[in-house]
Amino acid sequence: MKLTIAQAKLAKKSPYLVLFATQGKPAHAPAGLALPKGFLEGFSGKARATQETFTGDTQWPRVLLVGLGEADALDSEGLRRAAAVGVRAAKAAQVEQAGFWVAPQLTELAGGETEVGRDLAEGIVLGAYAYRGAKAKSTDPELKQVSLWAEGSAFAQGAKKGLALAEACNFTRDLQNAAGNQLTPTIMANKAKGLATRSAQITCKVFDEAAMKKMGMGLLLSVSQGSEQPAKLVHLTYKPKGKSKGKITVVGKGLTFDAGGVSIKPAAKMEEMRYDMSGGAAVLGLFHALADVAVPFEVHGIVGCTENVINGEATKPGDIHVGMNGTSVEIQNTDAEGRLVLADCLTYAQTKTKPDTLFDLATLTGAVIVALGHELTGIFPSNDGLRDALQDAGQRVGELCWPLPLLPVHKEAMRGEVADLKNIGPGTLGAGSTQGAAFLSYFVEEGQEWCHLDIAGTAWGTSSRDWAGGSLGTGIGTRLLMEYLERRK
Ligand code: BES
Ligand code: MN
Ligand code: ZN
Repeated sequence: MKLTIAQAKLAKKSPYLVLFATQGKPAHAPAGLALPKGFLEGFSGKARATQETFTGDTQWPRVLLVGLGEADALDSEGLRRAAAVGVRAAKAAQVEQAGFWVAPQLTELAGGETEVGRDLAEGIVLGAYAYRGAKAKSTDPELKQVSLWAEGSAFAQGAKKGLALAEACNFTRDLQNAAGNQLTPTIMANKAKGLATRSAQITCKVFDEAAMKKMGMGLLLSVSQGSEQPAKLVHLTYKPKGKSKGKITVVGKGLTFDAGGVSIKPAAKMEEMRYDMSGGAAVLGLFHALADVAVPFEVHGIVGCTENVINGEATKPGDIHVGMNGTSVEIQNTDAEGRLVLADCLTYAQTKTKPDTLFDLATLTGAVIVALGHELTGIFPSNDGLRDALQDAGQRVGELCWPLPLLPVHKEAMRGEVADLKNIGPGTLGAGSTQGAAFLSYFVEEGQEWCHLDIAGTAWGTSSRDWAGGSLGTGIGTRLLMEYLERRK
């Protein structure tokens, strides 16, 4: 689907016209549009409510009203959802083209013109997303083009940004949704390389296993040694055009499939472990967005791409491996592999990029789903400012974050008997997500501003919010990180 953003006065013919209305006020319609009597007045305007009519008008033969709810309560999530409801209705109507006409009164609501433009564009593009996969014939009605008509350059500017952010999110979703054999570590690294061709400000380096061995990345390689697919370490760099106001590095877990290794997972739902590269996909999506939306920071993206499967070389429970920072780890459970991959990526990130702020995104623990469900990402910020910044950014983009604790006792529990650390804590300690974060903390230098984001619950299988939700990938993290960067001083 292609979204075109144009001035309201250029609004022309469309087989499917979408209009919005707030609760208690009749919708505004473009001048000259003849509607059945009472059609606008009779609409409730309740959030996500819809009402459709055929008009008899040749220019706009079919019109849909979508409710925004109370004007005072309208926020970006409400706008995204309403836009998604509209675009999905257009798809269901099996039209190839749809037009969204936004009355000037509406662009003054919520965050103002620019923000309304952004939210509506995001809602349309995210809501229209469908994953075709390997189906011979698409089962998704093809809506080829959507026009978004509104007055004012601020709206258009916001909408352009919303379009770029949503396309980046959909790129992340495509990576997530690809099957384990369709997106191997090598293919994922090639996707990262492809991003560098989208912008002169982005470069990409990919390291192979020999290079990783030279750097001493024994923990990452302890995971990939059980796979015929060679691991790849991706390093993306974004350089701002002007003077950089700081350096931010984002690490992603890129397990293109996680069978658990010798500590093998149960068969039920194992296919979901194709999503175990969602953290890495979010990082790649961030650079997709950075190619279109400028930020005044130097941004690095590090993704450890590998599979966690089993061959005769696979790591056995009890094996000991040493990471890039010299820390030895007894691998008591080969299914706790994400933290091993991240450990070396974190060391690499700090030694090679020296960031002001460091993030890592990972589908790290099933336990975070128990704690927070599918609607909240568990975050482990090293300070309250970072916590607030992520929660605020998450609220804005509809990717909510919730802080989880990390106590000295959890750190202590990861110490090993026969090596510096073990990769799982005692079962009696509980707090599985915190244990993962505690393990990672040994690979983050004292004083480094850092936040670990456990996206195992939010990466897929969320409840339906029109533009998001369902069993497939959500694209979590890409828009969240962009929002964080855009808000950062
Ligand atoms: N990729 C999984 C985490 C996961 C599990 C994500 C279920 C989404 C749904 C991770 O590598 C893993 O296997 N974690 C283990 C850790 C345990 C062995 C300490 C887990 O959560 O069970
Ligand atoms: Mn695992
Ligand atoms: Zn995993």
